[in-house]
Amino acid sequence: MEDISLHILDVAENSIAAGATVIRVSLRIDHPKDLLYLEIEDNGRGIPDRLKEKVLDPFFTTRTTRKVGMGLSLLAQSAEEAAGGLSINSKEGKGTVVSARFKYGHIDRKPVGNLADTFSVLIAGNPDVDFVFECRKNSSEFLFDTRQTRNELEGISLNAPAVIAAIRIHLKESLAEMK
Ligand SMILES: Nc1ncnc2c1ncn2[C@@H]1O[C@H](COP(=O)(O)OP(=O)(O)O)[C@@H](O)[C@H]1O
Ligand SMILES: [Mg+2]
Repeated sequence: MEDISLHILDVAENSIAAGATVIRVSLRIDHPKDLLYLEIEDNGRGIPDRLKEKVLDPFFTTRTTRKVGMGLSLLAQSAEEAAGGLSINSKEGKGTVVSARFKYGHIDRKPVGNLADTFSVLIAGNPDVDFVFECRKNSSEFLFDTRQTRNELEGISLNAPAVIAAIRIHLKESLAEMK
């Protein structure tokens, strides 16, 4: 995986496969501590206890489309390469929280990547799922919640081309302001 935003796409895909209707993606940079935190939380069906210790095994998957399940073990690997780690907190029937921590200034930390594109792709591909994107960098904060946008659209689909284009520009501009 080349950058963190591709991990986000991949991990959010697990949430969607688990039937989540709301997915929260939070990215936080704490400069004083030199840490970057990524958290992906969903209200999907959760990971059954008997599978919990297996999900970080790259050869474990409950999918039937590809033999090797890799998403979580690859994220764990990326985090560990940057002196961080991964933790998974899941309750069957309630949902799952995947948390990754990276040393921000570590030479092997993957770049964050293009968050505006990543978030837009998630919305465009899953217009009936609600997403909350949260980015925090020291004192500046950005929040985007598709539930609010959905209300404002009064029935127009979130993946209508003009809507997606506008969302992408909004995300791009807002995230650029945080730099
Ligand atoms: N958010 C989630 N909710 C429920 N189950 C999950 C979630 N994330 C991962 N899993 C379980 O862990 C397995 C491994 O996930 P992953 O490493 O991404 O590989 P893959 O998606 O290719 O199977 C999945 O097949 C699924 O059973
Ligand atoms: Mg996966």
